[in-house]
Amino acid sequence: MKVAILGFGSVGQGVARMIREKNLGLSITAIADSRSGLIDNKGINPEKVLAKKREGLPVGSPDVTARSILTTGDYDTLVEVTPTNITSGEPATTHIRTALERGKHVVTSNKGPIALHHRELCGIAASRGVALRYEATVCGAIPLIHVLEHDLMGNEIRALHGIMNGTCNYILTRMSEEGLTYDQALAEARQMGYAEADPTYDVKGIDSAIKLVIFANTIWDWNARFSDVEITGIDQLTPDALRLAEEDDATIRLIAEAIPARRLLRVSPRILPRGHPLVVRGTLNAVTLEADMAGSLTFIGKGAGSIETASAIIGDLLFIKEKYDRCSRKKT
Ligand code: HSE
Repeated sequence: MKVAILGFGSVGQGVARMIREKNLGLSITAIADSRSGLIDNKGINPEKVLAKKREGLPVGSPDVTARSILTTGDYDTLVEVTPTNITSGEPATTHIRTALERGKHVVTSNKGPIALHHRELCGIAASRGVALRYEATVCGAIPLIHVLEHDLMGNEIRALHGIMNGTCNYILTRMSEEGLTYDQALAEARQMGYAEADPTYDVKGIDSAIKLVIFANTIWDWNARFSDVEITGIDQLTPDALRLAEEDDATIRLIAEAIPARRLLRVSPRILPRGHPLVVRGTLNAVTLEADMAGSLTFIGKGAGSIETASAIIGDLLFIKEKYDRCSRKKT
């Protein structure tokens, strides 16, 4: 299957590395970074492009744009991994729309278009008979969207709650276990590269709320918006509050929760007993699903990182490759 990659930062490079290292039947025919692009219908050698990035060079020519790749490139599936813009969703939404309208599958880690335009984009994909997959938008390496859409088919999902932001979890862990101040812990989290470009998105609970919207729209088709989420971040949390929780053998975590019976979407710091399944440490994410047949299921894993996010993207790519090859669906 031929793949075009738009966005060649940490996630795009992770995907290219895994395609190079593993024999997956995937060939990269186009790549664009923020400055340039490269098209080779016979297949690009990922090693050469990764070496250019290591040297700080653009991947290709400034004349080859994302638009020219999208409209003239020879690819089966677009991997859209440009930086997230949660206000407008652009330019990623236009990239995804253009590819779907051309009858191309799309795999993305980009939270903006999926949180803002899920119903519209899924509608275009369905009308063109192609796939739109976005496992990597929520909780990095943890396979949740696929589980919800496939493995739990027939279950009624009665609630979902969890830790969906590694940066906040890291800050809270370091503050409670090592007595770091909020500013010290945030500075460490930023150094690790987990925080968003603007870390207020993390600490004010916005990133968690965006992921919650993606889950709610996937599970219950609510067409929910970011403004439907009640949000309290961790930026106002005092060391005293954490200390008091510790004295009761408890701790504080930023929990995102969705409860359909009350049509509730909420992100807020919560006191949890130390042994609670959602009390994970460091940058981990943890999500519990309450399903009527399957019962309570908790998933724990890495919610960010180049290769961890690539794991979710590669899984989506291979799902498409298997499904659409096997069904002999028409490709354009
Ligand atoms: N800033 C996010 C986090 C990255 O800390 O979880 C993954 O979406």
